[in-house]
Amino acid sequence: MLAYLPLLILSVLIQLIVALQYHEHAAFTPQHLRELKKHTKELFHHAWNSYMKHGFPADEVRPITCEPYGPDYDDPTNMRNDAMANVSSTMLDNLDMLFIMEEWGELENALNYLQENHATLFEQDTVVQVFEASIRWLGGLLSTHLLLTDVQWPDEPRYAEIRRICKNYDGFLLILAYDLGLRLIPAYQTDTNLPFPRVNLAKGVDAVPEHMNELTCTSGATTPYVEFALLSKLTGDMHFERLTGLSYWKIWHSRSRLGLLSMTMNPSKSEWVDSIGGVGASVDSFYEYAVKGAIIFNSDSLWLIFTKAYLALLTHSAQSIGIHDSTLFANVNTGSGEVVSTWIDSLGAFWSGVQVLAGRLTDAISSHLIYLKMWDYFDSVPERWCFVSPSMHLDPLKEKIANAINLEWYPLRPEFIESTYYLFRATKDPMYLQIGLRILSVFETRFKTACGLAGYQDIRTGQLQNRMESFVMGESLKYLYLLFDEANEIFLHQPFMSKKNWVFSTEAHPLWYTPEFGRQSAQEFKENLRVLRQKSTSSRTPSYKRSFIRTLWSKFVISDRKMIDTLAEPPIDRNNSLIDWQRLGITQVSPVLDSFDTCEVKPRQLKTNRNSFMQSGYYTWKNLFLPDAKYPTTLIRPKHLQKHSKILPNHYVELTPAFYHTFTAFAPEDKLRLHLQCAREATTTESDCVFSEVQKPEQHEMYIVTQAEQNSRFAVNDVVIPTLTGRFKLEVLKIGDIDSTNTLITKDYIRKARPNTWVSRTSEVLRVTRANGVKVGRYRTVWTTKESVQDKTMFKVSKDGRIFVQGRYVENFRVI
Ligand SMILES: *[C@@H]1O[C@H](CO)[C@@H](O)[C@H](O)[C@H]1NC(C)=O
Ligand SMILES: *[C@@H]1O[C@H](CO)[C@@H](O)[C@H](O)[C@H]1NC(C)=O
Repeated sequence: MLAYLPLLILSVLIQLIVALQYHEHAAFTPQHLRELKKHTKELFHHAWNSYMKHGFPADEVRPITCEPYGPDYDDPTNMRNDAMANVSSTMLDNLDMLFIMEEWGELENALNYLQENHATLFEQDTVVQVFEASIRWLGGLLSTHLLLTDVQWPDEPRYAEIRRICKNYDGFLLILAYDLGLRLIPAYQTDTNLPFPRVNLAKGVDAVPEHMNELTCTSGATTPYVEFALLSKLTGDMHFERLTGLSYWKIWHSRSRLGLLSMTMNPSKSEWVDSIGGVGASVDSFYEYAVKGAIIFNSDSLWLIFTKAYLALLTHSAQSIGIHDSTLFANVNTGSGEVVSTWIDSLGAFWSGVQVLAGRLTDAISSHLIYLKMWDYFDSVPERWCFVSPSMHLDPLKEKIANAINLEWYPLRPEFIESTYYLFRATKDPMYLQIGLRILSVFETRFKTACGLAGYQDIRTGQLQNRMESFVMGESLKYLYLLFDEANEIFLHQPFMSKKNWVFSTEAHPLWYTPEFGRQSAQEFKENLRVLRQKSTSSRTPSYKRSFIRTLWSKFVISDRKMIDTLAEPPIDRNNSLIDWQRLGITQVSPVLDSFDTCEVKPRQLKTNRNSFMQSGYYTWKNLFLPDAKYPTTLIRPKHLQKHSKILPNHYVELTPAFYHTFTAFAPEDKLRLHLQCAREATTTESDCVFSEVQKPEQHEMYIVTQAEQNSRFAVNDVVIPTLTGRFKLEVLKIGDIDSTNTLITKDYIRKARPNTWVSRTSEVLRVTRANGVKVGRYRTVWTTKESVQDKTMFKVSKDGRIFVQGRYVENFRVI
């Protein structure tokens, strides 16, 4: 024994050093990653135990003052009541997190508590938001029910406990979910098929003050669809799906003439009350659930909605920030497509995660960058960050900060962590682990408080917020923990889950569905309900008795499935008989919408050859630091964060010394011509150009050449637009400019681009960078027909088919 002592001491010592310095390491060895998981789990334990000790059975615990926190009964109009109802919200939202953390004892305790109280849990005289209640509680209950009934937990010691819990589980969570569903669904009892945003859980929709139900947002009115549809399929009661589905499709059908959705509507009058839309707050989860719903329910019509919506967003909302491969999705006027706000919000950070799910990996990598930059400067993501500065000369720092941060709080939202998780799973680029490591250390050193985790009330000053919403554990810590699970140790990443079509709900609850399981579940549910009804005639379950025995559904005008199908609109049958592809030498084309059906795979973890080390693809990204150059007055570090530089040696995540030294070991052969060198900032400008009129993406006839004969003028990936309509982005190239591909525009460049024309010092050339949302750029040509460019005031066409727009030559634009 004694002989082993030095070894033992050594190993303890090593572990200690690893534990102390884990955030300065960046090797991401299996041991290092396990350490990161352990640290994340400790944060979870701290938060969960604080909640159970000081918060439960209230909805939340206040992380600074260690008090329980719940609805404001004195002021029913207080917004915080939207997601609180004295229903142990933090517990409901974190049941599935207990699975991920393998906290079987805690899970069993929570289930026992809920079973004991299930009949009265939702009998609460408070007004909640249907959206919040459905994503946090309904989603939490359904997910946990699935985890308890539709998972084949392997017969291994590790899962012995959960196998036992599953065996004893009688399905009461689905009954609880059904009870909640019945309390929420009266919000849909309107003549317009658009739901009210709020209900009183005990007293129904009539007990909600009128002004609180005047307006609803697009996300609020559409997102409940997925959870409710699942509730329908698992219980066999199809009303929930029909009602919420009808709202979803009706709102989609009411999109603007550009195919965009606005943020706010009046549900009673069935009208939009604004015309602003993007991908952030108020519309975000509409798009998210088009993709996720398509996956769970294997639905072509939801997928079609997404592809159409996505192309509309690429056409109007996507702003290339002067940088070839970095994009920001701005809010635009849904009628005209003009940019209408100078900020983007923190919720919009989820978008790159959805892009990954939808198979648009290049786009996802590019839209994630701007949020990484926010973490670089703010150690958080401001609720709203401004991307335009009114003046370059704002001073002092305080004024600049005030201008940059439009809304100053960061309640530990998960969206950026979520996207980082998706991007890592899709690319395996270690940079995403490095981002996670930074987030973990900021959570540990700054946000951890006496009784949980507290985010910023004010990023500008560093003041913390005495609140820990249920999503802090249930989403932020969940995604962080799963990010570090490279070895697939967590059950969600294990083979026995891989055959399920599971996705994370918008609240990070794993959800999935198969028709076989649905049929079986509906049968069991019916039986459970029958037993319960028998019991309830004599028992002490007043709340169930009330809602189950009443014939709630007779009140609704139920629209049938046909109506949804009409609203779902099949794609327009594109008539391509006008173009004789064969004669042109084009052997295969793909309509633009169809091209979205292919999933992109683009690993960014580079290996130059078999013998070299793993390295991050980020360092070959020539534009990695261009956002910093582009937004010098709004990407700035608040004073209180400058002091913290001792804890976090370099505030740029992507320049953390340990990481940089480990992952930039490029092979000497330099075969891929990798250079650790930034591109020069582009000095060209981009201008917007609308030809004829802008329509919905599916109304623009547009093709991508996928195969062409060798001697034809067309190249694979060229774009063909037979009838020229829509929104184009044109880069203006002047002599002396650096363009978006990091090329210096010289007189020679212009001369080559437009032979046979006089080139002077002021000559300029245009380049199509986007055509109706489709990225074009320097190496791709846009083709159109002669008939499209007849308008003499706008176009001039040279003999060899080159096109001039208002006198200016467009280098990648040709007549067929
Ligand atoms: C909140 O719920 C608890 C138990 O679930 C109950 O005892 C208490 O009366 C409720 N509070 C209010 C104000 O309704
Ligand atoms: C396509 O266009 C041609 C010529 O205009 C027309 O004859 C044909 O009927 C159209 N086909 C469809 C399916 O609309």
